[in-house]
Amino acid sequence: MDDSVIGALFDAATKVRAHAYAPYSRFKVGAALICEDGRIFAGCNVENAAFPSGTCAEQGAIAAMIAGGARQIAAIAIVGDAPTPVAPCGACRQRISEFAHSGTRIIAGNHAGLRQIFTMDELLPQAFSLRKDTMA
Ligand code: THU
Repeated sequence: MDDSVIGALFDAATKVRAHAYAPYSRFKVGAALICEDGRIFAGCNVENAAFPSGTCAEQGAIAAMIAGGARQIAAIAIVGDAPTPVAPCGACRQRISEFAHSGTRIIAGNHAGLRQIFTMDELLPQAFSLRKDTMA
């Protein structure tokens, strides 16, 4: 994965993270993905007083990608203010997997600039899938 692409993803993720709505956890997250067509979509977490109704940053980025007419994630970056790089939660690993392949890069990052690159298969081996081939 090209360093300039990773840089662009973290720029977008960091920028959108500033808009995160996280008054309950106080843990703001930003995510940015690049599609196979080169477009970048970003999202932040949006919490809710009814806790389970909140949404993760990755969900926002995926929703923006789908709304933009794209279907295939080439790479996704996640950033949060933590001592170690912020990797996607379990549910978001499944959400990413719907639009990824086993080698898709998932790059965890933190505010201090630490980065850790994983593949989809490393973060969610044996992912549940019904129809990876069609991406309807
Ligand atoms: N969060 C994300 O946005 N993405 C993740 O992958 C992990 C968790 C959010 C959800 C919640 O608003 C806050 O971080 C604390 O869990």
